[in-house]
Amino acid sequence: MSKIAFPKLIAHRGASTYAPENTLASLRKAAELGVSWVECDVALSACGQTVIMHDSSLNRTTNGKGEVAKTSYELISQLDAGGWFAPEFKDERVPTLDQWLSCTAALDLGLNLELKGIPSQADQLMEKVLASLKLHWSEDYANLCVSSFSLENLEAARRADAKLPLGLLSKAWSEEYGELLDSLSCTSINLAHQSLDERVMRQIAAHNVAVLAYTVDDKKLAEHLFELGVCGVFTNDPCLLKEGG
Ligand code: G3P
Ligand code: MG
Repeated sequence: MSKIAFPKLIAHRGASTYAPENTLASLRKAAELGVSWVECDVALSACGQTVIMHDSSLNRTTNGKGEVAKTSYELISQLDAGGWFAPEFKDERVPTLDQWLSCTAALDLGLNLELKGIPSQADQLMEKVLASLKLHWSEDYANLCVSSFSLENLEAARRADAKLPLGLLSKAWSEEYGELLDSLSCTSINLAHQSLDERVMRQIAAHNVAVLAYTVDDKKLAEHLFELGVCGVFTNDPCLLKEGG
């Protein structure tokens, strides 16, 4: 799998320190603050619409209640996805993947698209994701990485497209992942920063993948991770590496 030039900072759920996570406002804010890549999470609504949401439930980041997977997009589209964060974001909506990709491409940003959702719907989610990428992204999938904690999602992604750049997401490295990285032809491994040290980095090095770390909101920690050989970090604060950041 070809290498990706990952940037040092990837705006986690958009610029989620400054705007409600996973909304178009957080995406635009990330671009305004000068990052070149963003991360977002995608799952399916009850009617099979792809929605940009982190939690499986609507409760934390919208004024609705219930499970995303059991709620129609018609209902989700009417919810306020910004008021919980600050009153000025009250009119923000839960974006669809099409809306997110269209805006990301227009802002010329790279994207780590994290697949969430229910394991039994992995193929359905992937079918929708590929259809949206076809509409909004370049055919060579430049500046794109599709990641997941779910093996079902990663396998569905690889089955669906041999060329899609994939990232294996996990809280911590395990030696068993070596075989998985190779068999899925992963481009990256995305790990919780707490799990990374020199020994782990040496073990990963044999598999020719980029190492990304989440979620890093401390400048000194980010610099330590770069010294270890981490390519980039997911951060809620795109200003992290700026003077005084
Ligand atoms: O993709 C990195 C990070 O977003 C993974 O964890 O829970 O924030 O989606 P989470
Ligand atoms: Mg995520």
